[in-house]
Amino acid sequence: MGKDVIIACDFASKEALFDFLDLFKEEKPFLKVGMELFYAEGPEIVREIKRRGHKIFLDLKLHDIPNTVKKSMNVLSRLDVDMTNLHAAGTISMMEAALEGLTRPDGTHPMLIAVTQLTSTDQQRMEDDLLIHEPIDKVVMHYASNAKKAGLDGVVCSPLEAEKVHDTCGKDFVTVTPGVRFADGDIGDQKRVMTPAEAKKIGSDYIVVGRPITAAEDPVAAYRRCVAEFVG
Ligand code: C5P
Repeated sequence: MGKDVIIACDFASKEALFDFLDLFKEEKPFLKVGMELFYAEGPEIVREIKRRGHKIFLDLKLHDIPNTVKKSMNVLSRLDVDMTNLHAAGTISMMEAALEGLTRPDGTHPMLIAVTQLTSTDQQRMEDDLLIHEPIDKVVMHYASNAKKAGLDGVVCSPLEAEKVHDTCGKDFVTVTPGVRFADGDIGDQKRVMTPAEAKKIGSDYIVVGRPITAAEDPVAAYRRCVAEFVG
């Protein structure tokens, strides 16, 4: 499995994104495109980034009835991204339908990754708003197991959960972990963070890094530092 650093491209427009990408003369980093950019610019933004030679994690977190998710994944499949995702809360049937929709005629499919519980949802919110009374780490592991049962490739999780996900679902089950900061960096609004080197040590497969690279004075140097620490 290829360990890699994925840059979270949380830009509001394609001009801002391309100004950022133009800084990279040698590397073609793996990029995460989220809802903000996708909804602002439409699917053409994905095609343009692919044409520039980058791998793409399309982070749209689908969650709907199985039939709708299957058909939507089929549309996304034609964009030829490398990784995409959905909410495990949509149930095993929804995840199975998603995988079916995403699978190309030759039987291959982009990596399909599940969101378990968002890191913005804590134990209290889960109990009060969602009426889920189990401990949150048990819920996260249960949702990860469901994703594995449905045939998905892995989950998005906090770096602190990655080791337990591998223990529960096997080491080939991919963990994609945001919440990464340099040891000497600003943690911003992230609460539970790890350095790229720590994320490597606990076995994350992909780290998703946004502002420590995009807001750095020298984004290319920050990206290289991440790769050196994480991939080695
Ligand atoms: O700028 P920063 O490194 O905090 O960006 C992290 C990226 O990962 C953002 O795009 C954020 O939306 C995403 N993310 C996260 N925590 C999650 C899931 C996704 O920070 N649990």
